[in-house]
Amino acid sequence: MAAAPVGDDRYGEDPSVNRLEERFAALVGKPASVYVPSGTMGNQIALRLHGAPGSNVVVGRRQHLMSYESGAAGWNNVFQIYAVDDTGGVIDAAATAEAVAAGRGGFWPPVSLICLENTHLASGGLALGAEDLAAAGLGPPVHLDGARLFNAAIALGTPAAELADTAATVMSCVSKGLGAPVGSLLAGPADLVAEARLHRRRLGGAMRQAGVIAAGGLYALDHHIDRLADDHARADRLGQAVAERWPGTRLGEAVASCGRPFTNVVAFRHPDALGLLDHLRQAGVRAGLLAPGIVRFVTHLDVDDADIDRAVAALSSASS
Ligand SMILES: Cc1ncc(COP(=O)(O)O)c(C=O)c1O
Repeated sequence: MAAAPVGDDRYGEDPSVNRLEERFAALVGKPASVYVPSGTMGNQIALRLHGAPGSNVVVGRRQHLMSYESGAAGWNNVFQIYAVDDTGGVIDAAATAEAVAAGRGGFWPPVSLICLENTHLASGGLALGAEDLAAAGLGPPVHLDGARLFNAAIALGTPAAELADTAATVMSCVSKGLGAPVGSLLAGPADLVAEARLHRRRLGGAMRQAGVIAAGGLYALDHHIDRLADDHARADRLGQAVAERWPGTRLGEAVASCGRPFTNVVAFRHPDALGLLDHLRQAGVRAGLLAPGIVRFVTHLDVDDADIDRAVAALSSASS
């Protein structure tokens, strides 16, 4: 990163950013991509690109861009969010089809975009296969929030480009399990990506000598994709410890065995979630809340086997 060649990315002159954008676009099978500071900004730009004024944007009700972006979708935009169930990580295809059909009738808002998320965080990090992304065939364009798309690709043994094939735009983060310090990318057709650059600037996300951080992203894409399997194996160990201690509480359990594998997230219901987080913190294990009463662990580049041993021991010594 220290040795990265840099230039002014606002003029498209940073060679490291340009390389990262080309490399990411190729990996997800799209003609172009744009580097943004965060996954949230990538998602919000995608909403601006597709979400026409007065239209409905169909979103799974627990998707990150609906439930975890501090209301940005409503604050920033002029369309309506049409939330549908996303039990088990998959958006309700019948409800989505109904909204699309109704939108063609003149009274209901037309559907300008369908949003999907893979892996699906709120169902416990389940990886969705192409058949689970079928809402893509309904007509309106799809934006895929693939913050952890490479985790899905590794867990399913399916190339990321195949998982993103039906999406018009796809966002993914190099800053999560892939281990780069900063950044996400939004990929799609060249004309949309050019427009995305304008929105990035409007949102204050256009950076100058960003090659320093982009180089970390390039390294992550070159060296840290295959090793995501290690994070999944470690999350599995944590998941087993949770299942032994609190059987039946893990989110996504029912569907994980039917072809939607778990990845690097372990989320489970606990009657005293805050008390458990406190106990874990005292044992040097940091976990968070996915929602009230739902504890979440995430494994990533900086968590090794010894850390998992410590977390498993802390789980077994919890008082309840
Ligand atoms: C599914 C999903 N989408 C988007 C984001 C947003 O990424 P960022 O934290 O970089 O804004 C996250 C972050 O956790 C996420 O889990």
